[in-house]
Amino acid sequence: MNRVLITGGNGMLGRALTASLIEAGYTVRVASRSPRSAKANPDVEWAQSSLETGEGLEEAVAGVDVIIHCATGGYTRAKKVDIEGTRRLLAVAKQHRVKHFMYISIIGVDKIPNSYMQAKYEAEQLIKASGVPYTILRAAQFYGAIAILLKGLTRLPIGIILKGFPSQPIDINEVSTHMVELVKAGPGGHVPDIAGPRTYQLVDLARTWLGAQGKRKPLLQIPIPGKFGVAMRAGHGTAPDKARDGLTWEDWLQKQYG
Ligand SMILES: NC(=O)c1ccc[n+]([C@@H]2O[C@H](COP(=O)([O-])OP(=O)(O)OC[C@H]3O[C@@H](n4cnc5c(N)ncnc54)[C@H](OP(=O)(O)O)[C@@H]3O)[C@@H](O)[C@H]2O)c1
Repeated sequence: MNRVLITGGNGMLGRALTASLIEAGYTVRVASRSPRSAKANPDVEWAQSSLETGEGLEEAVAGVDVIIHCATGGYTRAKKVDIEGTRRLLAVAKQHRVKHFMYISIIGVDKIPNSYMQAKYEAEQLIKASGVPYTILRAAQFYGAIAILLKGLTRLPIGIILKGFPSQPIDINEVSTHMVELVKAGPGGHVPDIAGPRTYQLVDLARTWLGAQGKRKPLLQIPIPGKFGVAMRAGHGTAPDKARDGLTWEDWLQKQYG
């Protein structure tokens, strides 16, 4: 089980995973729609491929023992990438007798009614039905992803923050280290969720994130409408019983901004 293909290997999680897998002695093949860049880690193999068109997928999968499926189309292309792309990837994985297909999902995809979560849930069902040995891990938001979200929400003179949005973010390196352990363990089915040490309201994350950069800004909290809001307020995006001791948000801010 030595050669691992990472779809979305050039993304946020993909890059952390690449480093963790190489450190653990695996050969990593990064799948990306882009050609290999000069900045790419010289230790990795590169497979230019697209889940949306299927181009390059055969070559990407040939000769790998494990696929870690991190690619996503995000909110705008979830149907094409996360559902149709996953279906396409599973067919190629089956054909090449891939021994282990690992999928990174999100806590609450089965309970939070929004199109992205539903697409990820559908991808989970495709994997379970595929006949390819699998591991599905649902994770909380990564600290870096929270920071990107907050940057968007606070770009105006008044920050617009979702009210009643509990979040239990986690250090991405903790997730990637755990995923390497799961690769070592082999196909484990739907494994327990992974979440950060503490749960926060988004408004508190925003205040501390601004504060860590020496900034202050008025924050207007707006309620999340509809069933999505109900599910978020109910805490379906968190998993307090799966909280890990590890780097806290405050520790991460300190590392990031000093
Ligand atoms: N961010 C979080 O807080 C979080 C939390 C829990 C779970 N997750 C899950 O973890 C996974 C990785 O998240 P991330 O934040 O690392 O995402 P990301 O940085 O946006 O990376 C996603 C990657 O998907 C690839 N991609 C997009 N469209 C593609 C296509 N048509 N064909 C092939 N590849 C395509 C892109 O690679 P190229 O541009 O190189 O082609 C991109 O680098 C996602 O499945 C996400 O749902 C994320």
